[in-house]
Amino acid sequence: MCNNKKYYITTPIYYPSGKFHIGTAYTTTFANTIKKYRQMRGYDAYLLTGLDEHGQKIQDVALSRGKTPQEHVDEMADAAKKLWSKMNIDYDDFIRTTDKRHVKAVEKIFEKFMENGDIYKGEYEGWYCVPCETYFTPTQLVDGKCPDCGREVTKMKEEAYFFNMKKYQDRLVKFYEENPNFIEPAFRKNELFNNFIKPGLEDLCVTRTTFDWGIKVKGDEKHVIYVWLDALTNYITALGYMSDDETKLEKYWPADLQIVGKDIIRFYGIYWPIFLMALDLPMPKKLFAHGWIMMKDGKMSKSKGNVIYPETLIDRYGLDATKYFLLKELSIGQDGLFTPEGFVERFNSDLCNDLGNLLNRTIGMINKYFEGEIPDKPNDLTSLDTSLEKFVLEEIRIVEKEMDEAHVSNALEEIWKIISRTNKYIDETTPWILFKEERIDELKNVMYHLVENLRKTAIMVKPFMEETACKMFNQLGIDDNRLTAWDSLYEYQQYKKELNVVKKGEPLFVRLDLQEEVEFLKNEMKK
Ligand code: MSP
Repeated sequence: MCNNKKYYITTPIYYPSGKFHIGTAYTTTFANTIKKYRQMRGYDAYLLTGLDEHGQKIQDVALSRGKTPQEHVDEMADAAKKLWSKMNIDYDDFIRTTDKRHVKAVEKIFEKFMENGDIYKGEYEGWYCVPCETYFTPTQLVDGKCPDCGREVTKMKEEAYFFNMKKYQDRLVKFYEENPNFIEPAFRKNELFNNFIKPGLEDLCVTRTTFDWGIKVKGDEKHVIYVWLDALTNYITALGYMSDDETKLEKYWPADLQIVGKDIIRFYGIYWPIFLMALDLPMPKKLFAHGWIMMKDGKMSKSKGNVIYPETLIDRYGLDATKYFLLKELSIGQDGLFTPEGFVERFNSDLCNDLGNLLNRTIGMINKYFEGEIPDKPNDLTSLDTSLEKFVLEEIRIVEKEMDEAHVSNALEEIWKIISRTNKYIDETTPWILFKEERIDELKNVMYHLVENLRKTAIMVKPFMEETACKMFNQLGIDDNRLTAWDSLYEYQQYKKELNVVKKGEPLFVRLDLQEEVEFLKNEMKK
């Protein structure tokens, strides 16, 4: 069932400066989850990710590794693709800012800006932060240091090209007035609007002469195009903007959801909309700014010895548990905390106790009481059944709404309410007593509802944890597409005797020893 509605999702393109950590993995898996959900809802969902390969920082890292920048970024692109494949990220395109298709389009975009008078040549003097590749005005500095990373800044002066941001000030303000929900969460929008837009925009310096690893300005080659102009435009160049074939652009632009970290919202909330206005292209529909995964002692950093890599978690605990933790831990727009204890406890409580046990108990009971055969859909419901059904149907609606708004952690929380409620239903209905007292019709009702709730749960967790969902369907004896489709969530199914027989399977998640695993993770973080 495809309604042919498109849904274009993007991640930031990552700096290939070092090994990708769980922060980067978080954004990508978040975007992938939304893609999977949209596909289940019949959308033609398109996910773009990639690498932001130019700039001084990359040039320096390559040099320190004794490589050319190109050799370095090629290796990193392979590493990124390997990681995304390990994480089952189903991206539709992987753009690299060194791709010819991108370079050519950026040159043309720059030319177009020049022709339209959006870019002019001038001289720049300011405080420059090398790692962030950004100039700051004296008032933007915090204690004389970079407001973004807190590092030392250097005073620099250079001939440069400027983008006339001031020209677009009124249009940008109007855009925010007309689209108050463009940025989510709202507090990030307010921050951006009040601190950066309302006080008045400064023209933006869009070239550098301090390094040469980047796209050169045509006809004035000592200037390299500013990394953010180069980078932000990837969302349209990947779709063929300014190439011979703009079919994808016509089909997918504007983006429906651009996922970014809170630290880079300024670039997406100011410069990107203005570049788009200057190109006469429509605005993206939604900019979602997520928080950061933090460690007990602040940001992850190699020098603090507190970095955790996705591979470590995946190899030891599996992909689904890793994804579950990341997606659950960061509630809408807020930071989340990674601690070894938190990871293991969440694994044991949410995945083993709540979900795993529910499946195990249900399958055990259906095997014991009905030789694995799922009972028919009941005609007469008890009051416990009715209240359970009402609860579940309401929850499904909430999950759907949360997923529509890309609130993945909330959606997981609601799905887990169904799991808890279903576990409670077992305690309320006491199937073992029903069996002992030979109240077989009631017992059938209970088993039927347990299977139905597990089937519904599996459908809803599928965008998050595909393997777990498949294992659940498999153990429940469900391999019918109709029964695993999102639309079937609102229905109570009639199972077919010959087809749907539950099978005893491996436990979904095996309980972890807290002490042992905490020690393991702490050691890994020190490596
Ligand atoms: N290259 C730019 C983006 C250009 S997009 C046109 C960039 N790259 S980055 O590699 O430094 O960061 C990429 C993304 O990872 C950002 O959205 C950033 O917020 C996110 N994260 C980096 N560390 C993170 C955590 N610890 N937790 C969650 N996300 C984090 O910025």
